[in-house]
Amino acid sequence: MSKNTPLVAGNWKMNGQREQALELGKLAEGLDKNPVEGVDVMICPPTTLIMPFSELMKGGKVAIGAQDCHTLVSGANTGDISAEMLADAGATAIIVGHSERRADHSESDALINEKAQASWRAGLVAIICVGETNGQRQYGLTLDVVRRQLKNAVPDGATAKNTVIAYEPVWAIGSGLTPTVEDVDKVHNDIRKVLVERFGDSEGGGMRLLYGGSVKASNAKELMAVENVDGALVGGASLKADDFLGIITSYKS
Ligand code: 13P
Repeated sequence: MSKNTPLVAGNWKMNGQREQALELGKLAEGLDKNPVEGVDVMICPPTTLIMPFSELMKGGKVAIGAQDCHTLVSGANTGDISAEMLADAGATAIIVGHSERRADHSESDALINEKAQASWRAGLVAIICVGETNGQRQYGLTLDVVRRQLKNAVPDGATAKNTVIAYEPVWAIGSGLTPTVEDVDKVHNDIRKVLVERFGDSEGGGMRLLYGGSVKASNAKELMAVENVDGALVGGASLKADDFLGIITSYKS
């Protein structure tokens, strides 16, 4: 079991319009009725919903995060959004380097590193994603790939407070497939080792390591019980309050 306060974060990706506030309301209500102590909960909706959602959740148990940001504060960058704007809208964290951004927008580790620093500049937590593709896994390259991503995408100023690492094997995302508990254990232990070596016991040991990729209520308990798994980054199963609550309650003792 993790010694860090777990974080269960939902990444809604490009899903949800204003009516989806109903699910958010159901989630908050569920957490009020049936509290799960000692777990942080976050929803990262599409950018259009950050402001209304953060206003709805003010003072409540559900934090609101964003899914990406530009590296700059402001400027001639049509269609982009800065970390400062996301903070102004009420976000408390930004996912950076999700594999869908890496694949669909050719994002490099160097760019992700800058985006993490932009998140910090705006006073927000950077949730930095790493993870291997299926091909890399089959060639036995998982640990090499993840280590390289950590080295290059995690900036030097990372602390337990300003950074969360999400290990999301690309092949497990949206596929219904998950690594074995042993594989998750192996990768998370390796990530922890790398972080402790680089940032020391307190910061590297305190940084939360989330697992992401086909997490659902039925597999959450065993995945969340793995040493050095400090929570989950959940896609599909975070869209419905009942499904997401099922994952969060896996932390109920
Ligand atoms: P799924 O939970 O839908 O597999 O998505 C995981 C993910 O990409 C979260 O960022």
